[in-house]
Amino acid sequence: MGRLEDKIAIITGGSGGIGKATAQRFLAEGAHVVLVDLDDDALGAAARELDGGDRVLTVRADVSREEDVRGYVSATLERHGRIDVFFNNAGIEGKVAPLESQELAMFDKVLAVNVRGAYLGLREVLPRMYERRSGSVINTSSVAGLRGSAGVLPYVTSKHALSGMTKVAALEAAKYEVRVNSIHPSPVNTRMMRSLEAGFDPSDAEAARAGMAANIPLGRYGESDEIASLVLFLASDESRFITGAQYRIDGGMGAA
Ligand SMILES: NC(=O)c1ccc[n+]([C@@H]2O[C@H](COP(=O)([O-])OP(=O)(O)OC[C@H]3O[C@@H](n4cnc5c(N)ncnc54)[C@H](O)[C@@H]3O)[C@@H](O)[C@H]2O)c1
Repeated sequence: MGRLEDKIAIITGGSGGIGKATAQRFLAEGAHVVLVDLDDDALGAAARELDGGDRVLTVRADVSREEDVRGYVSATLERHGRIDVFFNNAGIEGKVAPLESQELAMFDKVLAVNVRGAYLGLREVLPRMYERRSGSVINTSSVAGLRGSAGVLPYVTSKHALSGMTKVAALEAAKYEVRVNSIHPSPVNTRMMRSLEAGFDPSDAEAARAGMAANIPLGRYGESDEIASLVLFLASDESRFITGAQYRIDGGMGAA
């Protein structure tokens, strides 16, 4: 028996680094996954790589659009009739700049995806879980949801918002025996960090990377499959008494 045997899991940002690694892990533990992301080609490539046959469904959706969110939820319900796990994970980093130079359009976009998108997902998915008095939601925040980081005000603002959203959702969902937790990774080796490294030091992204790794007591970035291990635990019944929690997964950064 897998740790998620026959569970139905929606993963937003499902063709990205952390999303795809988590899908891999969920499939290995017996789940069916619904990958939600922006681009059909990338979703198709992720599905082929995951090689889960009809246990993988892909749905193109922009999580910041209400009708798209309804679309991925209804596609999941049409195929599977229920949602057991919701990995609310899609996110964007925005641009690196001091706050007075942040473009308002980008500020709005980061909040639209990272905050509004996460909220719309909760609003559609949680009632389906309430009906069955069962479910686990994992919101992807960041260490940037717990502390400041110069140069990325929209991102830090959005990830702090997710911390609050998780707590409210956990309190409201508890009476239905539905759990909501957030994860807070330090830098993880994905496309997002390549973009941020280039933003922090356009002339030497490798130096930016080395500097950020040096700030992590374990001396390196996390890997997507390490994040997936935590998400799997929070998705599974092993964490059944845990809700409203903020899980750091940060190579020791929080100890400093
Ligand atoms: N990589 C890190 O260092 C790190 C650290 C802490 C938290 N996070 C968070 O982890 C999550 C996953 O990031 P990742 O590192 O896998 O990066 P990634 O860029 O590889 O994956 C993010 C995915 O989200 C998708 N996405 C973006 N906007 C979307 C939208 N409007 N609708 C649907 N999908 C959308 C992207 O297409 C992409 O596939 C994000 O929320 C990110 O903020 C990442």
